[in-house]
Amino acid sequence: MAMPSQPDPRPESETVRFDIVDGVAWVYFNRPDKRNCMSPKLNRRMLQVLEELEFRHDVQVLVLSGEGSAWSAGMDLLEYFRMSEAEGINATRRSQREAYSWWERLRWYEKPTVAMINGWCFGGAYGPLFACDLAFCSDDAQFGLSEINWAILPGGGASKVAAELMGFRDAMYHAMMGENLTGKQAAEKGMVNESLPADKLRERVQQVADVLKKKDSHALRATKWAVRRVREMTYDNAEDYLIRAQEALNDFGGWETRKEATKQFLDDKTFKPGLGAFDKNKVQAD
Ligand code: ACO
Repeated sequence: MAMPSQPDPRPESETVRFDIVDGVAWVYFNRPDKRNCMSPKLNRRMLQVLEELEFRHDVQVLVLSGEGSAWSAGMDLLEYFRMSEAEGINATRRSQREAYSWWERLRWYEKPTVAMINGWCFGGAYGPLFACDLAFCSDDAQFGLSEINWAILPGGGASKVAAELMGFRDAMYHAMMGENLTGKQAAEKGMVNESLPADKLRERVQQVADVLKKKDSHALRATKWAVRRVREMTYDNAEDYLIRAQEALNDFGGWETRKEATKQFLDDKTFKPGLGAFDKNKVQAD
């Protein structure tokens, strides 16, 4: 007879791990034996890790990946659902808050974020998937809204994520049928930027991180927030918001940065904006 699943004895501090290498924080869901499903312990730890990394000067880009064969198998059916629900509505709400808090933090993160999806990605994992600015997966990753297969609806934002990232018919089919998409299908439907052979995934994410590292960090933050904000605005409101956001950007060093970039193009002729980023190291520190 099969052994019923037991709560994971792994201490909270070990449910997430990270390395910082050359300005990139590589953060990993670290419950490979449980396919990196999200328990309350993992959710609490992830928020701490994100908070710790957000303002560090040695971190310019954050990558979120998973240890083992999964990115994340969604919410932990034992520790997040069954055990919280057994304690009552307050425990359930607390568990939701712990999960949603770090997804929200990641949606509005100061630094650029990249999801590196190395394997299974189910249900609740669509929250952090959407929270990351860019997403790259391996061809053998699998994406699924499996909620319907165990008789719940795709909550925790998962329905919203499908509706935001896919066309209407695709989102409806995906949510109602409970069938998985391969990495390539996920890329075709707009869930991720690109799908790559597993052994090329990290190299490609490193390349992307290296490009992001060269951009002006204030302009990058303003840009990623602008793209998220304008999705829900009318054209006129977006136009106005973007004027204000650029004016705010001017106020924290933006004028000097632009003057230098413009000089490098128009006077020094050392770069072309159409072909890559200016040399930000030449900006006078004030
Ligand atoms: N919740 C709780 N435990 C999980 C979860 C999960 N979401 N996913 C995997 N595990 C556990 C398994 O129970 C098992 O634990 P045990 O060793 O203590 O018995 C262990 O992780 C390994 O899982 P297996 O099923 O043996 O791994 P396998 O590689 O064969 O299959 C797969 C992987 C397909 C991801 C499978 O584990 C699965 O279907 N998981 C559930 C995926 C899912 O539907 N998630 C919920 C989405 S809905 C939501 O998030 C709200």
